[in-house]
Amino acid sequence: MSESIKGLHRTHRCAEVTNGEIGTAVTLMGWVQKRRNLGSLIFVDLRDRSGLMQIVFDEPQIGADGFAKAGTLRNEFVIAVRGTVQKRTAAVNENLATGEIEVIAEELRVLSEAQTPPFPIEENLQTKDELRLKHRYLDLRRPDLQRNLMLRSRVTNVVRSFLTEEGFIEIETPMLQKSTPEGARDYLVPSRIHQGCFYALPQSPQLFKQLLMCSGFDRYFQIAKCFRDEDLRADRQPEFTQIDMELSFVEADDVIDVNERLLARIWKDVLDIEIPLPLPRMTWQEAMDRFGSDKPDTRFGMELKNVSDVVSGCGFGVFDGALESGGSVRGINVKGQGGMSRKQIDKLVEEAKGMGAKGLAYLCINEDGSFKSSFTKFLSEETADALVKAMDGEAGDLLLFAADRDKIVWEVLGSLRISLAKKLELIDESRFDFLWVVDFPLFEWSDEQERYLAMHHPFTMPFEEDIELMNTDEKGKARAVAYDIVLNGTELGGGSVRIHQDDVQEKMFEALGFTKEEAHERFGFLLDAFTYGVPPHAGLAYGLDRLIMLMVGADSIRDVIAFPKVKDASDLMTEAPTPVDGVQLDELGLVVAKTE
Ligand code: AMO
Ligand code: AMP
Repeated sequence: MSESIKGLHRTHRCAEVTNGEIGTAVTLMGWVQKRRNLGSLIFVDLRDRSGLMQIVFDEPQIGADGFAKAGTLRNEFVIAVRGTVQKRTAAVNENLATGEIEVIAEELRVLSEAQTPPFPIEENLQTKDELRLKHRYLDLRRPDLQRNLMLRSRVTNVVRSFLTEEGFIEIETPMLQKSTPEGARDYLVPSRIHQGCFYALPQSPQLFKQLLMCSGFDRYFQIAKCFRDEDLRADRQPEFTQIDMELSFVEADDVIDVNERLLARIWKDVLDIEIPLPLPRMTWQEAMDRFGSDKPDTRFGMELKNVSDVVSGCGFGVFDGALESGGSVRGINVKGQGGMSRKQIDKLVEEAKGMGAKGLAYLCINEDGSFKSSFTKFLSEETADALVKAMDGEAGDLLLFAADRDKIVWEVLGSLRISLAKKLELIDESRFDFLWVVDFPLFEWSDEQERYLAMHHPFTMPFEEDIELMNTDEKGKARAVAYDIVLNGTELGGGSVRIHQDDVQEKMFEALGFTKEEAHERFGFLLDAFTYGVPPHAGLAYGLDRLIMLMVGADSIRDVIAFPKVKDASDLMTEAPTPVDGVQLDELGLVVAKTE
């Protein structure tokens, strides 16, 4: 049975009715959260996106038919109720915004009946993710997810108004683009008209926003869908959204300044939290040395210490070997955890190995000052004492050391630091620690491809004084005018000043191992554009999903995206991706060579 809405006009959302409206007539529409029969009275909690309102059905008010109908209501029925607001007759519910009032019903219409949902529609529900995502439209009825998406909408509104006030122009760039592989894997779209040819979905609007600077738009922004075919994690989806911007006639500090004010405005307007400006900055080198990460979580200590000098020539093969082959020995001090059992320490060693370490050396400082350690037997007493001193070790501390190439030592200790802080609950979850990480290396060595790649992208400006390093054996030392904005240990966004001089760009391509022809093949349109007068420009992009995730304290960006994908990049609700029929393939001139 579905009744029509005809003649009824919703006057309020459920939780928008206030005590001030006692005695007035209202019409509410929404979903039945719960029904309770108390003999002569029936209570229904009515839910919409604003919250709940208690409805009371009393036979003398609603009539015999209406009362009987109210008795048939079940969870998730969609109903319309016309009635009068009154002070609650029974106990006040202090947990509810509308806890002191209720609506005494005079008319009830059942707009739609509902099957019993596969899981209850409740806040912080502990149901299997697969079930939730298969019925995402029901999952999205839950108040926590509704709040997340409503907050997301408020954030994009603030972004739009702030950037517009600052003179930015919103421009859309194409979804069907040329594939210019660099960075993540592209999602490809086959062309029907040009068989055998493919478009790529944008990994970011990077090249187009630079072209818009060539065209003179000066300040551009876009809330842009991006696509990257990479392995999914809690903070990665194959399609995600960037707040993307580019500015002409600016230096790095100008970009940083406008973005600090943007972040402060978002936090103020949406969360009512003041973010003190300017935000702290740290060089990439310092971030790696102190935190073993280019996105340090600065909400707790346990910083890395380089003890290479202390242990150099110490006689312990693991340390000496790492130092002799150009690596380092570094440690972290896990305060007060010296009493950890052997079993727990072995677990840490296994965890370190999972992160690529060959091992993890430990030293527990007993309360009497003696050591329990995997390696001090190899050291002189003086070296052991010097090592403890260098680590600020005190009775009761646990010292952990990794010896290897810098990259591995940083990765291992940086990750252990985070995982220990979580386990030991050292993180103040109420804090928002913003940090700019600046002066990134220009290049990054890829073990996989056995060549240097651009750490940010090939259009990132080198430090002027490092240009001469770009095509030497020391290119690993060249720094980029690139910056990342980090929040609580997550990379929120990143950007750079771009190269606008063709001689520098040529050196860049050369350093990356592209010939002139190859560079033109891929990026010719951009290089051509630059020959017609290009302003100095710079930009930045945020991951909007990550920003919202951190604002609402969600564990995964899945909780702030309406219809997310799961780990294998499929959508459990629509079951995409699916095979397509032969006719579609034919039209595209495609044959499938391999299926799962
Ligand atoms: P970058 O590749 O650093 O820079 O991306 C910018 C931000 O986008 C977010 N992000 C993601 N979020 C969710 N899922 C993903 N798979 C994903 N990948 C990236 C991150 C990241 O910081 N064009 C440059 C920006 C510029 O130089 O202006 C770019 O795309 O939060
Ligand atoms: P081994 O000599 O391999 O028995 O290792 C002695 C101790 O050093 C063990 O506790 C190992 O876990 C540790 N160890 C081995 N390799 C490393 C490494 N690369 N960094 C730190 N500790 C290590």
